[in-house]
Amino acid sequence: MKIDTSRFSFAVLTMSDKGSRGEREDTSGPYLVKTFLDQGYIEKGYAIIPDQVSQIKEKLITWVDVEKIDIIITTGGTGVAPTDVTPEAMLDVIEKEIPGMAEAMRAESLKKTPNAVLSRGMAGIRGTSLIINLPGSEKAARENIAVLLPSLAHALDKIQGGTSDCGVG
Ligand code: MTE
Repeated sequence: MKIDTSRFSFAVLTMSDKGSRGEREDTSGPYLVKTFLDQGYIEKGYAIIPDQVSQIKEKLITWVDVEKIDIIITTGGTGVAPTDVTPEAMLDVIEKEIPGMAEAMRAESLKKTPNAVLSRGMAGIRGTSLIINLPGSEKAARENIAVLLPSLAHALDKIQGGTSDCGVG
């Protein structure tokens, strides 16, 4: 049986120094919000913050531990520039990594650009929430999330102790 996505809340976090100062319009965040709404998930938050480990950690932990948001999608800060620190914050936030999600995104992305290898984005679980890092450009966010969208409801069901059949859907 298909899992009802309206069981799950989501939030989108954009990491961008310029975006957080209002110097660059964030199009990736709004794109992701619309994508998850279109899939039936329930929006609980959207924020733009600078590339600072402490701020990223605080936001993710609040959204998971206090607001109990089921899935958080981040965009930006996954690369190799000195300011890119999203994965470093993730290491302090997640309790279990899901390497296959990031591996699949990079493998598919490599078919579109050789620069796919530069994203260090991770996916992992904290409590019963799923956190996924996407690269920052709208194009990259779109191409990466497309890889995972079909498996997310099943992932969330399993993370939250569901007993849905792995052979279905
Ligand atoms: N993945 C896809 N599918 N499409 C892209 O255009 N851009 C790459 C990579 N992954 C890209 C992609 C580039 S150019 C970089 S630098 C890294 O993601 C990291 O991006 P970030 O630092 O904005 O997070």
